[in-house]
Amino acid sequence: AAGLMVAIDGPSGSGKGTVAKLLADEIGLPVLDTGLLYRLTGAVALERGVELDNEAALAEMVGDMLIGLSWSSDGIGYDGADWTPRLRTEAVGAAASTVAAKPLVRERLLSLQQQLAQAGCIMDGRDIGTVVLPDAPAKFFLTASVRERARRRWSQLKQMGHRGDLDEVLLDLKKRDQRDRERQHAPLAQASDAISIDSTTLRVDEVVDRMLGILERRQ
Ligand code: C5P
Repeated sequence: AAGLMVAIDGPSGSGKGTVAKLLADEIGLPVLDTGLLYRLTGAVALERGVELDNEAALAEMVGDMLIGLSWSSDGIGYDGADWTPRLRTEAVGAAASTVAAKPLVRERLLSLQQQLAQAGCIMDGRDIGTVVLPDAPAKFFLTASVRERARRRWSQLKQMGHRGDLDEVLLDLKKRDQRDRERQHAPLAQASDAISIDSTTLRVDEVVDRMLGILERRQ
């Protein structure tokens, strides 16, 4: 599968991350989670006190950030530290979706994603099939009902030791969905040549089997 590019897009909690990792194990490709780039941008902005609505200041910050950045299947590192564990909170998720709506921020992060994908990978995000890798030979769009996605996110938070109220998680998720779908620049959308899979009532291994079947038929 060397050199193969697989794009997986979908809303928060659709199971993209888990599915991408399992699929990667099966076909021997690295996984690049593009959400980590936007989460790191949000977290660094929060830490440095950069206004989440100041597009020019954010773009400059991202320019600096790209210099000390290491991003791989293992997660994301910046300035000599592994940032991955602290990026999974709801606060960082909300900051990520705010900064991700800024065209200059997206633009600065685009070529890094395109360069790293060239050697072959499974890349997951919101705009991979539409903007980042429009020529990827395999594209999936993963969905699930908003209730089911909230339930998954809630149990994930619980596992990580965070407390969370299911209704609150549902509300946050709806807000983030709306922001991601309605933004002007590179919104969450299914590419016309992407295959959609609804995972509401499927286990992750069933989703992965479906994907493997589709990839095999394509070769
Ligand atoms: O997937 P994850 O929840 O980690 O993404 C965090 C946020 O980053 C999303 O809500 C979305 O606003 C943004 N994002 C994006 N484009 C991507 C990946 C993530 O806009 N390709």
